[in-house]
Amino acid sequence: MADPIALLHADRAAARAANDPNANACVLATVEGGEPQARVLVLRDVDARLGVFLNGSSPKHGQIGQSETVAAVVYLPSRAVQYRLTCRLEAIPAATVRASWELRPPIPKRLDWLYERHPQGSAVPSRARLVELLNAPSPGTAPATALGYYLLPTAVDRLHLEQPDGIHDRRRFTLVGGAWREEVLVP
Ligand SMILES: Cc1cc2nc3c(=O)[nH]c(=O)nc-3n(C[C@H](O)[C@H](O)[C@H](O)COP(=O)(O)O)c2cc1C
Repeated sequence: MADPIALLHADRAAARAANDPNANACVLATVEGGEPQARVLVLRDVDARLGVFLNGSSPKHGQIGQSETVAAVVYLPSRAVQYRLTCRLEAIPAATVRASWELRPPIPKRLDWLYERHPQGSAVPSRARLVELLNAPSPGTAPATALGYYLLPTAVDRLHLEQPDGIHDRRRFTLVGGAWREEVLVP
């Protein structure tokens, strides 16, 4: 039985080698009061697991508490493959988040501190005011609102477009009792 997470890691590695601009990205979908919300996030390999980093002040952080699971989509054009993941989330330890945060460029670091007073996604009077706010010095360590979550897939729908016979290959993998069950789906 194929392990869809191993397949995803292999596809992402091949996409990186092919300089696929989507190799390190995903679309994360959440719900806000029953309404869908989606955005691109960097999909990271954290301790050999899938992970995302985000700020606790952001709307998305409030949304991930509103459903048991989130959905993530990874589309790798260089591999002609799409993954649709249903995931539970688990907090990445603060020390791991902090270590990764320290590698960030200066502006994202300042932004994370700015979110303490101006939550991510809140309105500012102008771009000039935003630049002014970001010019203020900020501490060199991560604020407590710098967070990370492991994505723990419980179901994976893998669609592989390029097939010698022209028929897309689509499989659903479902985690049952700790093992992956695989089904072939009509694409
Ligand atoms: C290529 C790309 C990568 C991104 N990576 C992240 C990320 O890793 N973490 C993050 O919080 N936002 C990231 N963003 C910004 C999000 O898409 C989004 O605009 C922001 O997080 C606000 O989302 P929210 O209002 O749903 O909370 C990225 C955007 C792009 C285009």
